[in-house]
Amino acid sequence: MTSRSTSTDERPAFVHDGIAFGCDYNPEQWSREVWQEDVVLMREAGVDLVAINIFGWSHIEPRDGVFDFEGLDAIIELLHENGIRVNLGTGTSSTPPWLTTKHPEILPIMADGTTRYPGGRQAWCPSSPVFRERALLLVDKVAERYGSHPAVALWHVSNELGCHNALCYNEESAEAFRRWLERRYTTIDALNAAWGTSFWSQRYGTWDEILPPMLTVSTSNPSQVVDFHRFSSDELLDYYRAEYAVLRRHSSIPITTNFMVTAHIKNLDYWSWAPEMDVIANDHYLDNRLEDPTAELSFSDDLTRGLAQGAPWILMEHSTSAVNWQPLNLAKQPGEMTRNSLTHVARGADGVCFFQWRASLQGSEKFHSALLPHAGTNTDLWREVVELGATLDRLDEVAGSRVVADVAILFSWDSWWSADGESRPSKSVDYLQQVHAAHGALRDLGITTDVVAPGADLSGYRMVIVPGLYMVTDVEATNINDYVAAGGSALVTFFSGIVDEDDRVRTGGYPGAFREMLGVSVDEFVPLAPTDQVSLDDGSSAGLWAERLRSTGADVIARYADGPLVGVPAVTRHDYQSGVARYVATVLDRDGLKALLRSMAAEAGVTPTGPETDGSVEVIRRRAQSQQTTQDYLFVINHSVDDITVATSGIELVTGEGVETRVTVPAGAVRVVKERETKMENAA
Ligand code: GAL
Repeated sequence: MTSRSTSTDERPAFVHDGIAFGCDYNPEQWSREVWQEDVVLMREAGVDLVAINIFGWSHIEPRDGVFDFEGLDAIIELLHENGIRVNLGTGTSSTPPWLTTKHPEILPIMADGTTRYPGGRQAWCPSSPVFRERALLLVDKVAERYGSHPAVALWHVSNELGCHNALCYNEESAEAFRRWLERRYTTIDALNAAWGTSFWSQRYGTWDEILPPMLTVSTSNPSQVVDFHRFSSDELLDYYRAEYAVLRRHSSIPITTNFMVTAHIKNLDYWSWAPEMDVIANDHYLDNRLEDPTAELSFSDDLTRGLAQGAPWILMEHSTSAVNWQPLNLAKQPGEMTRNSLTHVARGADGVCFFQWRASLQGSEKFHSALLPHAGTNTDLWREVVELGATLDRLDEVAGSRVVADVAILFSWDSWWSADGESRPSKSVDYLQQVHAAHGALRDLGITTDVVAPGADLSGYRMVIVPGLYMVTDVEATNINDYVAAGGSALVTFFSGIVDEDDRVRTGGYPGAFREMLGVSVDEFVPLAPTDQVSLDDGSSAGLWAERLRSTGADVIARYADGPLVGVPAVTRHDYQSGVARYVATVLDRDGLKALLRSMAAEAGVTPTGPETDGSVEVIRRRAQSQQTTQDYLFVINHSVDDITVATSGIELVTGEGVETRVTVPAGAVRVVKERETKMENAA
């Protein structure tokens, strides 16, 4: 695969022969005899990219200023001799005990003022100058030693930056927050205006009066909270940049860090991080606490691809079976790991890596699954791992191709942080759930979607969905309005366009930023009790939210037939300049939302890639395009218990069989057809 390069600077590409198959490997936990067995088994499985030194600090700097690279040298050589490429961790993700003993000021402090101590991992404050100095010294040593080692294919900065320590409230964070605010607002008056501090006597006289949003007895200032999220994301990004700069001094090997594009971690605005990566990498674990974990996997992939601006990316971690950190850690069913892995490939991954190679014997992750389980190689899981390695080899030619999608969903961390804050109309409305609902409905309809930033270039999309985009800047609002004006088709859902970037309400009738485009005006929100359902006059049902809405030019598609707003419009459609903008002022049930999206897609000329199902079948097309040729690869993922067939022709790469008119995909299996005919009607 080849990573994207930015127009502003030339970034080294991550080049790999085909689809990478890899894992985290923690050789510090094992004897050298075990290492020998490990490389033999890695070769048997076809593992060709191994991440090491992720948690290596206390081994390679066992005492302050004393470095010992003997073990790391040996494992890198061993992997290299065996033709296994190294994804080299900088080793800074967890501090050694000597460092926090000497410098306890490194430790993070939470919003309630309590300290988080060593004994776990990531117990460091992102703004700590001492941490940064010590970590960068380590990076310097590692980069100097291995910066041009032929085994090293990729640098892996730290690990899941901000997984546990993104929000730190200690004095060093407070100081850094103040400096960040000064850069953002220049004057204290501008900050007072942005934060609306006339409310509740919060007016600041000087910068040093400002604190991070510590726990308060009442609700907090929401603008302060959202700025603290922005600051915290920027602070860790700045730290990533510092490691990047040190690595670059010694090495021209591509650099990345593993993102966490997932439902339960929302602290980093990856739209701002993505341009800093030489290749986008993401970690994804099925979250069985969610209603539909597989649908969330697909959403995460589509968002990761958005971060990569459509280019291939690497799945840096997922699990072969159970994790260890959910209340109930479900084992995967036979075949599920393969379906998950190939879904990632279908949705744009050119590398499939796992946490971790060999299941630990000790520590808090000893019951986390691995490629090599405690029970050893005479297991169904190991056999599936070996089979997956062989399958990925057969898919090597897919690497470098891009997913075809002509529908986009807009996603914003600013809206996630602010719409889910305190003191809002209904705590039952959850931003991500609304985004997932739109994505899931399109997935059911067989339509592939990109997930992109509100300010992204939308001109290539036939249809754009704007779910619950509560916070929107003027520039973003103009981008969306212009897209429709130029002939696009947009669906905006309730609680969108409500505030500006300071969390200041846009007045004159909701949704302020989109009122004119939508041809509606909302006088008041009328949230519904979570258990209440209302009927619409088109036969669909809805819940959770309603609005006292007037059409100011839009056609009414559906009105409330019962509940508190009988006769009031709930779904509208407005011709706006050359385009069409629809609005949904409530939470439609799944069938209602699908019906709306189905008719919108038909009108916008969107052709589904796959059949309409309840999400049990996913069909995705990746396209390799050069000036002379177009080659499509059709991925069919069958989550159902029945065999299915899909119309296509070409060669099926998993089995090597020819496909004349239809490919049959057995229950639970995945098939990838190198298509004979290019279906140009799906071109983005
Ligand atoms: C990730 C982390 C890994 C491992 C894994 C377990 O968050 O990067 O080191 O802890 O989770 O699922």
